[in-house]
Amino acid sequence: MEELRFERFTVDAADDLDARAADWIRACEQGFYGQDPDEASIGRSLESKRARGSVLTGVYDDAQAPPSLTAVWPVATFEEFAGEITLAPGRSLPAHLISGVTVRATHRRRGILRRMMTESLDRAQQAGRPIAALTVSEGSIYGRFGFSPAAFAQTVRVAVRDGLGLRADVRRTLESSGLRVVAVHPRDMEAIHDAVVVSFHSATPGSIDRLYGDRQRVTGRWGGDEGGPVKDLRAYACLAGDGTPLGFATAKFSGWKDDPRRLEITDLMAADPKAELALWEHLGAHDLVGELTWGGARTDDALSWALANPRDLRTEKRTDSLWVRVLDVPAVLEARSYAGQGTFRIEVSDPQGRIEGAWRVDVADGAAAVRADEAPAPDTVSTDAETLASLVTGAIEPWQAAGLGRLRGDETVLELVRALWTNEVRPLSATFF
Ligand SMILES: CC(C)(COP(=O)(O)OP(=O)(O)OC[C@H]1O[C@@H](n2cnc3c(N)ncnc32)[C@H](O)[C@@H]1OP(=O)(O)O)[C@@H](O)C(=O)NCCC(=O)NCCS
Repeated sequence: MEELRFERFTVDAADDLDARAADWIRACEQGFYGQDPDEASIGRSLESKRARGSVLTGVYDDAQAPPSLTAVWPVATFEEFAGEITLAPGRSLPAHLISGVTVRATHRRRGILRRMMTESLDRAQQAGRPIAALTVSEGSIYGRFGFSPAAFAQTVRVAVRDGLGLRADVRRTLESSGLRVVAVHPRDMEAIHDAVVVSFHSATPGSIDRLYGDRQRVTGRWGGDEGGPVKDLRAYACLAGDGTPLGFATAKFSGWKDDPRRLEITDLMAADPKAELALWEHLGAHDLVGELTWGGARTDDALSWALANPRDLRTEKRTDSLWVRVLDVPAVLEARSYAGQGTFRIEVSDPQGRIEGAWRVDVADGAAAVRADEAPAPDTVSTDAETLASLVTGAIEPWQAAGLGRLRGDETVLELVRALWTNEVRPLSATFF
C-alpha cells in the first residue's frame, strides 16, 4: 500500500473540465464496465458531483508507466457526500452517502477498499453523521463494514385490458377522492417533482433525499441517448382538488413491435396511497398499451389489493435498494418510531468497534429517549451492528431477527421490544446513488 498515493478532492471548477476529476470519472465508469464517457457525459457527472458537494477519493499508483492506464487514471475511486435519510414519518437524520466505489482489477484484494471505507466512515463519525448509506452491486462486500440491507424494491408487471382492472369498490374510492391526473411536459416537472419529494421523503422510512441528477432525469434533461436529453419521456402529475401535487410518474413507450406493448414506468412517487393508485389508473388508461412495468415498486405495494384479479400484477424480482451502517446508536434509535410505553436495555457488538456499547431505551408517546447504560440488567436485548442497521430502518422485524438468533434476550424483553418497535410501512428508498 505504501507505493500508492491517496488523494481527496472536491469538484470545484464551475465552467471548465477539471482534468483530475474527469479522469476519476473515466476510471469509475471503467470500474462499473461502462462506456468511455464523452466530454458531455463527463460534464454532467461533474455537474452532479459539484451540486451534491461530493468529496472524491482517487488512489494513484505512481510506479506505473504508459501504456498502462494506471499511469494516468486512479486505480481506485470512492465518493462521499452529505445527504439525509428518513427513519420515521417526520424524522430525518443527516446521512453519509457513499458511491462510485471501484478498484481496478490489477489492484484488487490488496485492502484498497478497506482503507478507503475505513477512512470515510472515520470522517463521517468525526463530522457527527449518525448513519452511512450506499447502494450495492454485490451483496457480499459491505456486511464486513457493518452495512446491512435497509430497503427493498420490486419489479412488477401489471396487465391492462381496456384500462386497469380495478375492483368496483376501489374505483368508487378513487372517483370520490377528488384527485386528478394530468399529463405534463417533462420540462415543467421540476416544481411538481420537488413538491412531491418533500412530502414523500418526510413520510417514508428508508427515503434518501433526492439528488440533483434525479431532477435532471425527471425533467428529461438527462437519461436519453448517451445520457443526454430524453425525447420520448412522458410525465404525469396527480393533483389534489386545490391543485397541490401529490404524486408524479414518468414513463416511456416500449415500442410498436412489442407484444404486449408496454408503458415502462421510469419514476413514480407519491406520499399518498390514493395518489399512487390514481397514477397507476391513469397509466393503465392508455390505448394500445397492454402492460405497465415498474422496477421501483414498494414491497408492500397496495396495488394488487386494488385489482379485481390480483394476478394482473406479477412480481418479477426483489432487490435491495439501500444498505445502511449505524454510526451513532442513540441518534438512530431516537429517530425511529415506537408504539406504547416501556423500557429496555440494548447491547450492540461491532467488529469495527464503531458502535460497540450498551444503552437504555425509554419509550413513551411513540418516541424513545436513549442513554448509555453499562450496568448489566435482566431486561437486555443484544444484537450486532449489521442487524441493528436493518432493525432501525424496519427492513427486518424484531420477531424475524429474534427467530434467527440475531436479536437475543429473555422472552419477556423480546416480547416487549416486538410490541414497542413499530414499522407501519416497509422502508422504501426512491433514490439511487
Ligand atoms: C468490490 C471492490 C471495490 C473491492 O475492492 P478491493 O480493494 O479488492 O477490496 P479489499 O481488498 O479492500 O477487500 C476488503 C475485504 O472485502 C472482501 N471483498 C472485496 N470484494 C469482494 C467481493 N466482490 N465479494 C466478496 N468479498 C469481497 C475482501 O476479500 C476483503 O475481505 P477481508 O478483508 O474481510 O478478508 C472491487 O472488487 C471492485 O471495484 N469491483 C467492481 C465494482 C464494484 O462492484 N464496486 C462496488 C460498488 S457497490
